[in-house]
Amino acid sequence: MKGYYIYTYGCQMNVHETEKLAGILQDRGYELVDNVENADVVVFNTCCIRESAEQKIMGNIGAIKPIKKNKKDMIVAVCGCMAQQKDMASNLRKKFPFVDIVFGANNIEFFGEYLDTYLEQKKFLNKVESDKQYTENIAGVNYVRDNPLYAYVNIMYGCNNFCTYCIVPYVRGREKSRAPEDIYREVKTLIDMGYKVITLLGQNVNSYGLDGNTDGVNFANLLKNIANFDGNFELRFMTSHPKDLSDEVIEVMASNDKISKSLHLPVQAGSNKVLKAMNRSYTKEAYLTLIDKIKTAMPSITLSTDIIVGFPGESDEEYQETVDLIKKVQYHNAFIFMYSKRKGTIAEKMENQVPIATKRERIHNLLEIQHEISEQLFNKMVGTTQRVLIDSENEKGYVAKAQCGKVVKLTKDAKLKIGEFYDVEITDYKKGNLIGNAKL
Ligand code: SAH
Ligand code: SF4
Ligand code: F3S
Repeated sequence: MKGYYIYTYGCQMNVHETEKLAGILQDRGYELVDNVENADVVVFNTCCIRESAEQKIMGNIGAIKPIKKNKKDMIVAVCGCMAQQKDMASNLRKKFPFVDIVFGANNIEFFGEYLDTYLEQKKFLNKVESDKQYTENIAGVNYVRDNPLYAYVNIMYGCNNFCTYCIVPYVRGREKSRAPEDIYREVKTLIDMGYKVITLLGQNVNSYGLDGNTDGVNFANLLKNIANFDGNFELRFMTSHPKDLSDEVIEVMASNDKISKSLHLPVQAGSNKVLKAMNRSYTKEAYLTLIDKIKTAMPSITLSTDIIVGFPGESDEEYQETVDLIKKVQYHNAFIFMYSKRKGTIAEKMENQVPIATKRERIHNLLEIQHEISEQLFNKMVGTTQRVLIDSENEKGYVAKAQCGKVVKLTKDAKLKIGEFYDVEITDYKKGNLIGNAKL
């Protein structure tokens, strides 16, 4: 039996695409191995959202060189967002002559054909197509999902927003919504197979259907229709762009028990000047009004966000507005990044780049403030009832997850079932985990 090994970097989109790559490989008789040294095919499914991601990937590709020296027939493929960048395929090949196949983020599903061609010709293949749009031929794609309870489902590809710091629209192309019937069919199959948490994926799920590909079905309709499916499951989605999160979506979320009461709503910055320079199309005030609406409709909601510190031109005062905003909103979780210059983006050419020392100072400061907020909010959950899904069990008890993704530990006093939802009374918050007892 031949073996494969896949390195996955970046967002949920890539995690899901790796499931597709794994399906393609398994269909061809390859088996997952737990050590790259035993692999016949190695794939790097890459990300280029920040420079640090690229550096790490380059280092990991470089580490394959001595392995391939001892295993000449090993096939090394690089795909995904990093590979999609202009001239990247030839640069990669120059830097790493042992790389055999390079293909982009938009032709993942053709990997099988590339592999066949390579095996026949044994010649370097550059399959990056700069103007390729994602065209999904879902029929026949065998996803290998490695978690039996949680499943990702793509509802759209690409991004039209062109936030000035972001490379995603350049490497993933324009927004393209999948047909609602295809999504319904996939979700129903997953529910029948026993998946319990379905997460709908898109760079900006709220603009689902705006491209006219869905016969008038918008994101709120899609959510509502899926939430009405029979079965015991929970529905989540990401990512929501604040600029077009509609009242209708909030209403659908609030009135459906199957939709998770947790929302990732990236704000990026707290200053209107910075938000404008980022091309985010909303103001701090509009964002805060939206948060109020969401909290009023769903008082138990847990919120999370993404934040960039040190965007070009961000002054100390403007940074302080981000601090004020996170204190006001009270996120359970925030992913905080230092601005990273990305080639070809508008912000790359902005002159007033912030020194790295300042970015470091801001990120440390903000992480500390957010940590305190998170700790307070999770401590406040003590005494509440949370719906959790049991993931696994060990000698000490059961490990579950709350709707916001937080780990909840349960004792073994009562016999519970892995893969079932339970209402749990939270009794403590210790070392970053919630502790509780199932209410039976
Ligand atoms: N589509 C999603 C986010 C995708 S990228 C959205 O719009 O919310 C995930 C996060 O990476 C972004 O929210 C942003 O906070 C961060 N990010 C994107 N480009 C970046 C850059 N050049 N430097 C630092 N962080 C960046
Ligand atoms: Fe990037 Fe903005 Fe699109 Fe998100 S919405 S992927 S941050 S351009
Ligand atoms: Fe990275 Fe591409 Fe996702 S750049 S964050 S893997 S869309």
